[in-house]
Amino acid sequence: RSVLLLNGPNLNLLGTRQPEVYGSTTLAEIEARCIEQAKGLGLTLEARQSNHEGELVDWIQAARQQFAAIIINPGAFTHTSVALLDALQAFEGLVIEVHLSNIHRRESFRHHSYVSLAATGAIVGLGAQGYDLALQAIAARLTEV
Ligand code: DQA
Repeated sequence: RSVLLLNGPNLNLLGTRQPEVYGSTTLAEIEARCIEQAKGLGLTLEARQSNHEGELVDWIQAARQQFAAIIINPGAFTHTSVALLDALQAFEGLVIEVHLSNIHRRESFRHHSYVSLAATGAIVGLGAQGYDLALQAIAARLTEV
């Protein structure tokens, strides 16, 4: 039971990037916490970040048959990328979309998500805690009989 955690563009800057919007937790801290929490839930978790759309597409493609679930914060690609949507639609496992900020109370161009069309569920506006909640939802679904 393995989970792939993907973070998209600019999320490598978490902690110092607009902390009033995205919080002060760094991506390294989020990733370490997810790996730790996954262990406690009987899952393994691999975490990756890229600023490049094609690299994210490659990773999603390679995740087919290899991972039971993907947690993805696609950053700005959320609002622009049909390519990420297509890749996620070809992935047969669970897909949980996470946004640190509440994209629905921000600029209107952030209100629409292509990725949501392929998502099992989405968690927005709860900061770094959103990743923990995504993992808990995945654990509950993967252990359902
Ligand atoms: C984000 C929201 C996006 O609109 C933005 O481009 C990001 C981060 C979030 O986590 O709140 O890079 O995905």
